[in-house]
Amino acid sequence: MKLNIAVLPGDGIGPEIVEQAMKVVNAVCAKKGHDLEATYALTGACAIDEVGDPYPPETHEICMNSDAVLFGAIGDPKFDNNPKATVRPEQGLLRMRKQLGLYANLRPVMSFPSLLHKSPLRRDLVEGAEFMCIRELTGGIYFGEKGRLDGGNTAFDNCVYTREEVERILKLAYEFALKSRKKLTVVDKANVLESSRLWREVAQEMAPNYPEVTTEYMFVDNAAMQIIQWPKNFDVMVTENMFGDILTDEASVIGGSLGMLPSASVGIHTSVFEPIHGSYPQAAGKDIANPLATVLSAAMMFEYAFDLKEEGQLIRDAVNASMDAKVTTEDIADDKTKAAKTSEVGTWLADWISKQ
Ligand code: IPM
Ligand code: MG
Repeated sequence: MKLNIAVLPGDGIGPEIVEQAMKVVNAVCAKKGHDLEATYALTGACAIDEVGDPYPPETHEICMNSDAVLFGAIGDPKFDNNPKATVRPEQGLLRMRKQLGLYANLRPVMSFPSLLHKSPLRRDLVEGAEFMCIRELTGGIYFGEKGRLDGGNTAFDNCVYTREEVERILKLAYEFALKSRKKLTVVDKANVLESSRLWREVAQEMAPNYPEVTTEYMFVDNAAMQIIQWPKNFDVMVTENMFGDILTDEASVIGGSLGMLPSASVGIHTSVFEPIHGSYPQAAGKDIANPLATVLSAAMMFEYAFDLKEEGQLIRDAVNASMDAKVTTEDIADDKTKAAKTSEVGTWLADWISKQ
């Protein structure tokens, strides 16, 4: 099959982790006889530095003309520490999501058998925990009107959702729940927020259309607690943009490291596959970052964008084999002095795949 992908490494550790994922993607394509065409494009702080725009029109064009986008990370401390900066790397990521119409971000939360002892949670709580968090990605407070009043001394960010936006994400979530363990948890703050009350109203209207699915409603503060207390009680969770951002960083501790969780952003145009973590600038260029979240995002790319399930599984098997063989970066290594470098993990995975 011909696979035409756009590769957006971004900032910080982005280029290093994407390089490892591409070693894996190339190995899978060689093994399974796929013809890969990868077009690299600029995004994030490096794009601001080079062309003054974190998501330049040429990059958007490349994404639109590809079958999938593999994305690294964006962000740079020089912007984080300067609240007055008007052009920011994150705007690139948000514009990419909006312009590609990627309204659903699928974040599978999982535990890894060989990493159970790395989780700060008790083994019996996390063993076998697996749920899908579906985060709405192009609405809410991230995209509402924002601004300053009173000569800059008052600031606001509006959280806006339309019925259509809520309906389409809930529909997708129900479809996931039907294919899964048939339980959907709708997370909101309907006791306080009007936008959450719209979410709950729409969910209550839709629930009777999915009689096989048990719909559960949960306030976000309670959900934050239950994710840690009883992670195995969740199957599919759906929530608005910012709640999903926060809850999935929290949920990543179940797997033992933020460096392990992949995601797929899907919607109207080309889907984007990216790790849920950020650009980890402190580690940039040191060859120590964990590439597995990006490698697993590549597995999701084969499965979701190309419907190539075996290829996705081959990558998952390689990742599990690397952990069994203890070829892991320092964040998940038992003995940090024996930790593998980022680049060694990528090479090991690609070799393992080519030997299958
Ligand atoms: C994520 C990230 C982004 C977000 C940032 C980098 C804008 O935290 O993908 O979870 O908040 O969506
Ligand atoms: Mg986040």
